[in-house]
Amino acid sequence: MPHTQFLATGFHVPARVVTNDDLAQMMDTSDEWIVQRSGIKTRYWVDRGDTGVGLAREASRKALDKAGLKAADLDCIIYCTCTPDHFEPGNGVFLQRELGLSDIPAVDVRNQCSGFIYGLSIADAWIRTGQYKRILLVGAEVHSRGLDKTSRGRDTAVLFGDGAGAAVLAPIDDDGRGVLSTHIFADGRYAEKLWVDGPGLAHDPYVSVEMLEQGLHRAVMEGRDVFKFASVKMPESVAIALKANRLTPADIKLLVPHQANLRIIEMVQKATGLREDQVYTNIQKYGNTTAASIPIALDEALAEGRLKQGDLLVLTAFGSGFTWGSAAIRW
Ligand code: UT7
Repeated sequence: MPHTQFLATGFHVPARVVTNDDLAQMMDTSDEWIVQRSGIKTRYWVDRGDTGVGLAREASRKALDKAGLKAADLDCIIYCTCTPDHFEPGNGVFLQRELGLSDIPAVDVRNQCSGFIYGLSIADAWIRTGQYKRILLVGAEVHSRGLDKTSRGRDTAVLFGDGAGAAVLAPIDDDGRGVLSTHIFADGRYAEKLWVDGPGLAHDPYVSVEMLEQGLHRAVMEGRDVFKFASVKMPESVAIALKANRLTPADIKLLVPHQANLRIIEMVQKATGLREDQVYTNIQKYGNTTAASIPIALDEALAEGRLKQGDLLVLTAFGSGFTWGSAAIRW
């Protein structure tokens, strides 16, 4: 069976940079608090006219260009987001249309911060079995429009950014290279620890003025609980990926973790026994872009020359659901 190879990656963020001082004009917060608690200094937020699919299209075009492929060469799209442009249908078909394609499948993955790893796991299974040979895997989010930008929402509003990352995946016959394994997990007992309650069809009516007044359409989070689980489950998932491939932390050239909080990433680094130079971070610039964070970080790491052929790359993520996971990749 072939392995799955990353042919190329690309990312795109909106033009508008939002600093911590900008946020302090909108709500009761400060640069000092945000940097100390999360490590975030700036994030990018969309302007009028931007859409999640628009960001995804730009990231996809960059990845396709780098892979030397045209959109018509793709035979499947997997689109990971928790901030879709519309309630229905999912963003996948809109991206397919934007890329000038029809007929090929467009799959929507709703696994929040773990979306890209869940999507990779699906893509990898299809590529290994030969079902698809050129898969576009996208993680893209527009959080900013949904955030409560008043002091009421300050614990979440300061953390999230908008952006898109894409990867073009294909089979590789070299036995030693490519995706070695993926590992995905979920625990629905904690679904309400980080969630957007409505609009939703569990409500009757599914949307109402009262719901909007209560702020049910805003993401709410029990940050400390999410933090605690993330700090345990991410290193655990890295250990599982290493064990599955009979590897050790010393074998890792680069760990690209989901960028949710610099303090969480530092705890993952320590718990896994890695040096700082083995762990990639860019949350300082982009904030938490959920499903886009790993492909954006991966594309930047590649541009900086942080991975060479044969290096071991490990991905890990944790987020709402709770969902989490990891992947081991021989570059
Ligand atoms: O992508 C995966 C999902 N997300 C995550 O992984 C995020 C996980 N959680 C976190 O990153 C952290 O819990 C936060 C960054 C959200 C919060 O950091 P914390 O150290 O856990 O702070 P806290 O929630 O315990 O709040 C400490 C204080 C509170 O005030 P009191 O009660 O001590 O007076 C908050 O009201 O900080 C206050 N606070 C703020 N102050 C200034 C909360 N948000 C802000 C803010 N600016 N933006």
